[in-house]
Amino acid sequence: MLFPSPHPDILCLLQSLDAAPGLADDLAPAGLLASEERERYATFRAPKRRRDWLLGRWTAKQLARQYLDARGAQRHADEILVRADGDGSPYLSLDGARLPVSLSISHSGRYSFCALTDQPGAAAGADVEMIEPRPLSLAEQFFAAQELAALLARPQAERDLLITLVWSAKEAFLKCIKEGLRVDTRAVTVALPEQTAAAEVWRPLAVTARAGLVHADLRYQCWWRREGGMVLTLGLLLEKKG
Ligand SMILES: CC(C)(COP(=O)(O)OP(=O)(O)OC[C@H]1O[C@@H](n2cnc3c(N)ncnc32)[C@H](O)[C@@H]1OP(=O)(O)O)[C@@H](O)C(=O)NCCC(=O)NCCS
Repeated sequence: MLFPSPHPDILCLLQSLDAAPGLADDLAPAGLLASEERERYATFRAPKRRRDWLLGRWTAKQLARQYLDARGAQRHADEILVRADGDGSPYLSLDGARLPVSLSISHSGRYSFCALTDQPGAAAGADVEMIEPRPLSLAEQFFAAQELAALLARPQAERDLLITLVWSAKEAFLKCIKEGLRVDTRAVTVALPEQTAAAEVWRPLAVTARAGLVHADLRYQCWWRREGGMVLTLGLLLEKKG
């Protein structure tokens, strides 16, 4: 079953290493990977990278299968390929052709969070981060001046959550525009939410990008939620209506 989505044009899925036997033990579940993916998997050496990559494939393919199933096209996981463009951004390929959807992949700890949208010209950005101790130096280095000032005005008890959230929201945006950390993270500004209580529901988040980063015909929307000990953020770039 899909994870609840904050917007009808975006589908998302959160999965853990417990979702299928093998994922936690560096063993690709049978029928998950196509041969070119098995070859790529074999090139990774670091255990964390192997585990993250595999869980990302699992999650992206489960999401893609549910998307295709709902459109009457039932496909096996190893028929759906997760490939990457030269900039590192992932896309889906089926029967040798690119699927006309935007896919985003994220992993953190024991989890992967993926999102897709099939709206023409739209892009999805997903990010998951564990809420853990974050040094203030991270905010000093990567946050815009107004983000840092807003953070310093908040109680110490909220800091780890807020630093995690701001970082995650920046990553979701930078994935949407396919730039990743090639762009200065201070070019994307996140308004700290007033409400940070533990309710596990999607809430809108105001994210502003430096002029020129988003095409004038597009509108960016972002949502966040706490989920267990994690922060999830979802970004959606959509054509402006009207
Ligand atoms: C995108 C980026 C911010 C992701 O952050 P991260 O902390 O590594 O971790 P996350 O788990 O949240 O996201 C990783 C996923 O981002 C996706 N990704 C990588 N580059 C991306 C890009 N330019 N745009 C959108 N998504 C991208 C990938 O699908 C990756 O997962 P995968 O390698 O398992 O397929 C970071 O990897 C980055 O800046 N990449 C761009 C620069 C770069 O070195 N690209 C590699 C060129 S080959």
